[in-house]
Amino acid sequence: MPTPIVNLQDHEHAAQAALSASAWAYFSGGAADEITLRSNLRGWQQWGLAPRVLQDLSGGHTRCTLLGKTWPFPLLVAPMAFQRWAHADGEAGMAMAAAAQQCGLVLSHQTSTPLHTVAPLMLAEPDRGPLWFQLYWPSDKVYLQDLIQQVEAAGYEALVLTVDAPVHGVRDRERRKGIQLPLGVRAVHWPPEAAPSTDTSGLCAGLANAAPTWADVAWLQSMTRLPILLKGITHPQDALQAARLQVAGVIVSNHGGRTLDTLPDTAHLLAPIAVAVRCQNTATNHTMNILVDGGIRRGTDIFKALALGADAVLLGRPAVFGLAHAGAQGVAHVLRLLRDEFEMTLALCGCAQVQDIHLNHVAALEQHVNVHLQGAKGLA
Ligand code: LAC
Repeated sequence: MPTPIVNLQDHEHAAQAALSASAWAYFSGGAADEITLRSNLRGWQQWGLAPRVLQDLSGGHTRCTLLGKTWPFPLLVAPMAFQRWAHADGEAGMAMAAAAQQCGLVLSHQTSTPLHTVAPLMLAEPDRGPLWFQLYWPSDKVYLQDLIQQVEAAGYEALVLTVDAPVHGVRDRERRKGIQLPLGVRAVHWPPEAAPSTDTSGLCAGLANAAPTWADVAWLQSMTRLPILLKGITHPQDALQAARLQVAGVIVSNHGGRTLDTLPDTAHLLAPIAVAVRCQNTATNHTMNILVDGGIRRGTDIFKALALGADAVLLGRPAVFGLAHAGAQGVAHVLRLLRDEFEMTLALCGCAQVQDIHLNHVAALEQHVNVHLQGAKGLA
C-alpha cells in the first residue's frame, strides 16, 4: 500500500518523484547557498506558541479582512511562474483548487495559462478567496497599460507589484540542471521583446535599467482603479514609504529565498515591519494590509504569522508541489491540510476567530526557556 500523504512534506516528496530534474531544480531551488531558503522554514519553528485555556470558542470561524473586504480564510496561493510545467492542470487547476478551498490566488505575470481563462474559475465560486494579479515591471509602458486593462476587465481585484527582483538571483541549482521549458509551456502574457527572466547576461545594462522606483509606484496608482500591493518588502523603512504613498498592502517576502541569499527569514522580518506599519496606520488613518510568505508549512505557521502582525499569508512551493504530483486535487489537499491544521491551532490556542490572535500568543523559544527558569527559581 502506498504511504498516505498526511502533511505538506509528504506532498514535497511526491512532487520530487513526479517532476523532471530541471523542473524540480526550478520549483524547489533557491539562490546561491540556499541559506535563506532553509532559514525561512526554520524561522517559524523558532517561535513557540503560548496558548490560553478555558476560552469561549463558540461561534468560531476563520474569516479575515483584506483590502476592506471579508474573506473566508487568511491564505492565498502565491504567484508562481510556468505552472503548466509542473502539471498539465497548471494555473487553471491551481485556481479551481484555491476557490474550492476558500483560499485566494495571486496569478503570476509569468502565467503559462491566459489570465482570462483563470479568472472565471475563481470568480464562479461564491465562497472563494481574493483574486489578484502579480506584475513585474516591463520597460514597454504601452504593453503594461494594455495588460492592466485586461487584468481589470477580467475581474482581478488587486495588482501585486514584485519589487525585490530587478534582476534574477544567482541560482546554482538551475544553472547546473539547465532550465528546459517543455514544448508549449511559456509565459503567455510576457512582453515578446523582453529578456527572458532566466537570462543572467548583461544584467546591469539590461533588466536593472527597467527596474521600478517609488515614482513608478505612484504612476501605477494613477493609472489603475485597482488597489496595489508591493511584494518583496523586507525593511521597515520601505514599508513606511509604501504607507506614505497610501499603498493598499505590502507582502513581507524574500522571494522564497530565490533572489538574494542570506536575507533573514520572514518569520523574523515580519514583526518589526508590522509594528512600524500599525503605528503609521493609526497616525494616518489609512489601513495598509500586511501579508507574509516564505516557509509556511503548517497551520501553526499561519497562526504565528497572524500573531506577529500579518493579516494573511501566501503559500508558494507547497501548492506547486501538490499540483506537480496530483494536479488540482493535489493542491486542494495541500490547502485542506493547512485549513484543518490552522483551525485546530486556533482552538488549541484559545481563539475563536483570527481577530482573537495576539502577539502574546507567540514567544521566542529562548524566552520560553527564560520564563520557565524564572518560574523554577521562584519555586526554589
Ligand atoms: C522566480 C521568478 C519567476 O522566482 O519570480 O523564478
